[in-house]
Amino acid sequence: METKALTASCTVVVGCQWGDEGKGKVVDVLAGSADLIARYQGGANAGHTVHVGDHLVVLHQVPSGVLHPDKRCLLGNGVVLDVSQFFTEIDGLAERGVDPGGRIGVSTRAHVVFPYHKALDLAAEKVAHRKIGTTGRGIGPAYEAKTGRRGVRIADLLDRARGVNRVERAIEWARARLRELGADPDLAGTVEDALALTGRLAPVATDVGDEIAGALAAGKRVLLEGAQGTALDVDHGTYPFVTSSNTTAGAAAVGAGIGPTAIDSVVGVVKAYTTRVGNGPLPTAFDAAMDERVREIGAEFGATTGRPRRCGWFDAVLASYAARVNGLTGIAVTKLDVLDTLSELKIATGYRINGEVRTLFPAGVWELENAEPVYEVMPGWETPTTGARSLSDLPANARAYLSRIEELVGTPIAMVSVGTRRSQVIREP
Ligand code: GDP
Ligand code: IMO
Ligand code: MG
Repeated sequence: METKALTASCTVVVGCQWGDEGKGKVVDVLAGSADLIARYQGGANAGHTVHVGDHLVVLHQVPSGVLHPDKRCLLGNGVVLDVSQFFTEIDGLAERGVDPGGRIGVSTRAHVVFPYHKALDLAAEKVAHRKIGTTGRGIGPAYEAKTGRRGVRIADLLDRARGVNRVERAIEWARARLRELGADPDLAGTVEDALALTGRLAPVATDVGDEIAGALAAGKRVLLEGAQGTALDVDHGTYPFVTSSNTTAGAAAVGAGIGPTAIDSVVGVVKAYTTRVGNGPLPTAFDAAMDERVREIGAEFGATTGRPRRCGWFDAVLASYAARVNGLTGIAVTKLDVLDTLSELKIATGYRINGEVRTLFPAGVWELENAEPVYEVMPGWETPTTGARSLSDLPANARAYLSRIEELVGTPIAMVSVGTRRSQVIREP
């Protein structure tokens, strides 16, 4: 266990499975010693849970450092912003007594998610031969518009006439596509609604890359918070069952507006087992009884959609692939406590595909669908770990399980989480 990964000046926190690894919890813990926290991709499809005091707060757009009252929170150019959801979230936080007003900023280069993106998302899913199982938040269509050069950015909206023109043209395009998909949603009022929010947007609009570079130059510490996870990355994930952005650490530089040399640490978050919500292969899926048991103990229901998450054994084929793709300098293992009652644990060290054992995560979704995991079996610890605050507090079998994960992933463990609360964490000095 080493902590260098946690004391760098610019740290990326990235999911290494199919999302929901506990990034929100890890970012909240690390934010205590950071000055600025920025999201770099994704949108309101994310659901990052932070447990502070008596409250479980789920953040979709606002960075997970926000519950520390003095931290600057930014949304980079790589994010797609649902403006009304963003302000609803800010108002909800203010009601809880953590008003982020004055310390939150949004990149002028970030793209806006409109109601027609959500309509397109739902309409495309409805007619799809194999449904992705999206969150319905308009993410795919908003990123398609961005790369199709039809998108509307925050900067466009702030220049009223330009904003109206671009939104009107985008609605025209969306209507035609929606008709092809057999949908005809009511999009009246879209332009007016967008413009109504520009008054609140203007004071938070900023050049995020410039702010981050300035903070680093002044010796401040920056956290870049990933959303989703490596296996949902549009290039490196289980395509086409992925989200529409690059979720991996390389995207942190692009999506925050800084150069890759500014980043000196990448913390990969892995659950001590595996979960997936939405469609697509999950090679290490549990049998039905174990699936239900772990879902119950781990409260594995989507933080954005409430859908049950499928659960499975720890997949070291995926985690070691994630270590390479993200250039991890440390891993944060979360939800170790969820395994406390199991008598036996399995770790997948390879996949048998068409009779051949493979240890490199394959590109073809059909290969993953036919993958039979090769498991290593380890004894459980059958002792509560929620009170552990150092490695030596953990039962020997739990330490052995962590060591084996560390060995297979080829990356030192920087943090272990043993509960939802900020205090339930092991960080060796
Ligand atoms: P994220 O999307 O990666 O931020 O993760 P989510 O918030 O969607 O899902 C993680 C869930 O696990 C949340 O409900 C967290 O409160 C919870 N959680 C995080 N770390 C731990 C842990 O160490 N133990 C337990 N039992 N729950 C945890
Ligand atoms: P956080 O940040 C888990 C999944 C969806 C679907 C696929 C595409 O909380 O880890 P999208 O709406 O992005 O087009 O859906 O990706 N998905 C997530 N799964 N955690 C997330 O975010 C996710 N964001 C998207 O379920 O399978
Ligand atoms: Mg989540």
